[in-house]
Amino acid sequence: MALKEFKNVSVGYIPDTEIELNNKKYKIHDVIQGEDILVDTDLKYPALHKVIKASPNRIYDGCPYQAECGGCQFQHVSYEYEKKLKEKYLNDLFKSFHLPHISLVTLDMPNNYRNKCQMTYKLSKSKKVVCGLYQEYSHKIVTITDCMLQAKKANEVILALNKVLTKNKIRPYDEKTREGNLRHVYIRYGFNSKEIMVVLVTNGEMFPGRGNVVSDLKKLNLGITTIVQNYNARDTSIVLGDKEKVIYGPGFIYETVGGYKFKISGTSFFQINTLGMEKLYNLALEKAEIKKSDIVIDAYCGVGTISIFASKYAKKVVGVELNKNAITDAKINAKINNINNVTFISDDATNYMTNLAKNRERCDVVLMDPPRDGSTKAFINAINYLGARKVVYISCNAETLKRDLYLFSENDYVVKSITAVDMFPRTIHVETVCLLTKK
Ligand SMILES: C[S@@+](CC[C@H](N)C(=O)[O-])C[C@H]1O[C@@H](n2cnc3c(N)ncnc32)[C@H](O)[C@@H]1O
Repeated sequence: MALKEFKNVSVGYIPDTEIELNNKKYKIHDVIQGEDILVDTDLKYPALHKVIKASPNRIYDGCPYQAECGGCQFQHVSYEYEKKLKEKYLNDLFKSFHLPHISLVTLDMPNNYRNKCQMTYKLSKSKKVVCGLYQEYSHKIVTITDCMLQAKKANEVILALNKVLTKNKIRPYDEKTREGNLRHVYIRYGFNSKEIMVVLVTNGEMFPGRGNVVSDLKKLNLGITTIVQNYNARDTSIVLGDKEKVIYGPGFIYETVGGYKFKISGTSFFQINTLGMEKLYNLALEKAEIKKSDIVIDAYCGVGTISIFASKYAKKVVGVELNKNAITDAKINAKINNINNVTFISDDATNYMTNLAKNRERCDVVLMDPPRDGSTKAFINAINYLGARKVVYISCNAETLKRDLYLFSENDYVVKSITAVDMFPRTIHVETVCLLTKK
């Protein structure tokens, strides 16, 4: 082993530092600004060997898999420090907009908050079926059954399921040989409803041993309310395929958030932090100041959660979403909550907004929550024509938010404020809620 010391390392928001060895640059992960470190330079990818002078912000009781697993980035720093880093990152990023201080709303649950988990499977050396999460930038599986971010109940189900899979000699899918059957297991847990959905993702329709797995799982009385088999024969890293078969229960779960009941299917988007979701939506609606006479558009609406939260303040809410299954669920969600002033439309958000603008329609408030890639120039231009008084942009990617805010500024909109919600503690991700008003 060859060790080299690096003193007083420089670290940005993402907790790694760049070092140079033999004219090549490498990233060393899990370090903190100002630390002195020893790097093992013999490895193919040089890595942190030891921290010689530790930062006072370093903690030692974080996740034991941090060094290997790609799931979290902040398990080696105190949560207090993580919050400071997140606030600093956002305030630096949006400096050019001259906004009031961007503050981070935090939740009481920085661990075990994820209502969704996705595990990938392999056989251990002793031929047991084991599962885990991918290493960062790789498809190497780090064996984990007690992830610190996932709901404790989901971890319990995964642990029990692995024993059932081993007993029934289920063959995990091997990406290289494309042999084997079980690719992933996806779990959704209703923190409030206590309902559990288990989705077994297989490499095609055939699933030898399926009946025994399901009957063994049921006998364990873990509280699983539905089991679905999802077929994914594609050669991609996308977890879920397009087809599924319900093998036990209704094929979906219900969850209650903010007094509303929501149907969640395997393939629909649902915020992964249930506690954070309510805070996020209430914050967005506070900023939106919707009036009883307002027509509101909820773009990228998923299963209609924001539309339903907004419905009691507005005259009418129109939710638009690309995923047809999500729209089916959104319509059901409006019905089960007895909400009559929301309409859901299955369309590409840009297409929908530009058509409205062409037809000279008007709206008062736009709520938008696009995926990580952000929105489009045409969508933003269309808002100008629709004349919305306010736009509330919810984003899980501050970089694309910033890009899109420049596009709004080229139109008639002024960025008024951004508030962040720590929906993803212990990771570099953060959700932001931005208010824009028409000049
Ligand atoms: C970040 S999620 C937000 C969902 C919802 N607002 C919520 O809070 O649960 C983004 C949603 O945008 C949808 N989506 C992605 N591309 C889209 C597009 N071009 N047009 C409309 N919806 C899209 C996704 O299917 C997903 O449901």
